[in-house]
Amino acid sequence: MPDNLMEKVVALCKRRGFVYPGSEIYGGLANTWDYGPYGSALKKNVKDLWWKHFVEDKDDMVGLDAAILMNPKTWEASGHIASFTDPLIDCKKCNTRHRGDKLLEEKIGVEKAAIVKLDAIQGTLMDEQIPCPDCKAVDWTEAKTFNLMFKTQQGVVEGSQDEVYLRPETAQGIFVNFKNIIDTCRVRVPFGIGQIGKAFRNEITPGNFTFRTREFEQMEIEYFVHPDQKKEKYEEWKAESKIFFTEKLGVKTENLRFREHDSDELSHYSAMTFDVEYRFPFGKTDAVETWGELQGLADRGDYDLAQHEKFSGKNLKYRDPHTNEVYLPHVIEPSFGCDRTVLTVLIDAYHEEKLEDDSERVVMKFKPSLAPVQVAVFPLLKNKEVLISKARAVHQQLKPHFRTEWDDNGNVGKRYRRQDEIGTPFCITVDFDSLENESVTVRDRDTMLQERVKIEALEAYLATKFN
Ligand code: GAP
Repeated sequence: MPDNLMEKVVALCKRRGFVYPGSEIYGGLANTWDYGPYGSALKKNVKDLWWKHFVEDKDDMVGLDAAILMNPKTWEASGHIASFTDPLIDCKKCNTRHRGDKLLEEKIGVEKAAIVKLDAIQGTLMDEQIPCPDCKAVDWTEAKTFNLMFKTQQGVVEGSQDEVYLRPETAQGIFVNFKNIIDTCRVRVPFGIGQIGKAFRNEITPGNFTFRTREFEQMEIEYFVHPDQKKEKYEEWKAESKIFFTEKLGVKTENLRFREHDSDELSHYSAMTFDVEYRFPFGKTDAVETWGELQGLADRGDYDLAQHEKFSGKNLKYRDPHTNEVYLPHVIEPSFGCDRTVLTVLIDAYHEEKLEDDSERVVMKFKPSLAPVQVAVFPLLKNKEVLISKARAVHQQLKPHFRTEWDDNGNVGKRYRRQDEIGTPFCITVDFDSLENESVTVRDRDTMLQERVKIEALEAYLATKFN
């Protein structure tokens, strides 16, 4: 792992148009990030792969795109109004706010921190001499609970009856549509509903680039099963999650792990949760790494459907067409963070290599099917019209089939360096020989080897490379 990997990835993201600080010309807005041309392409590819793998390719899955604003009763039923809280403490010296549980976790570990009750957080911080991260004083207020949901007003008249929340998870849009989908889509339990969309949480301590932000995207599945089938299906989803990260996204297996939640760590709705975690380089040197949650895999039981039945007064039970059994299905929930997945792909792809001439290159080794640009096309020289028109024709030929980019800036060496940092798997150069024999050089990003390929054979040659 290169030194200061995180800083290098953040710098590359800005330099090469993956991720910019939000609202930068106005001095920014803390912890907001905008995906630039290459970042938005990468994010779209992650979402498309996820949707294809988990929704389109499966016979027992359907998709949904529900509204962000929901009837506030949803959040009473889901338990978010009562329980979606973090313990907040203030530093009495510098008045900054922090998450008491996170400060404890860093000092005494996740397991011990999880059993410290709200009213014991202040005392434990003092006993353990845990200082304020900002001013280093050890002088804390009592911990208070802080609800993480963003509130806003709907309509033109302000008043508490118009208050609505920005959804803190996409999941509830799925639960409130369970009956609609059962009634209209010929689905039978076991089946799942997948959804990709924005969620909002007023996090007390956002940070680590796009890892923890207040506005983020989730890719969630609620999979409805008969309680007797739950164990078997849970294991299947665990295997599916691994396939997605390692085979579909190409994340290195040694950088991933599954971790089961302790009972004190569980969310208010969950009977069992495994997290898929990635080895993030959140320290300043390669010696420091932090396993961070990429995906949760929760057993939500029948909690949500039962709560929505109670609060809406609607019958949400399912009648099995074969056995006529009437019951509330249980739910297995694989819930992925989209921005964290993109961050993982960026970190995992970052490589520094020493070249034969002792220079260094930075190369983003994205899985070719995921790369924002798949093929870059260059004319050898940028001021030779015959080369330019031939190269333009090659570019037009490939554009309908691959994500392509035209590049005629600087010399070919500089173009390679830039495309390596964008992670483009193949660079095609049109040179003087191309005019004679209708062939081009194709340079492989990872091996840097060049092959001569006939122009008419390019699509077939490249098609084998993007599985
Ligand atoms: N519906 C279940 C649910 O929302 P969660 O563990 O709170 O579960 C699921 O969130 C995923 O969403 C996490 O694994 C993480 O990848 C992502 N996520 C949660 N909070 C986030 C934040 N503040 N910023 C970025 N991603 C976040």
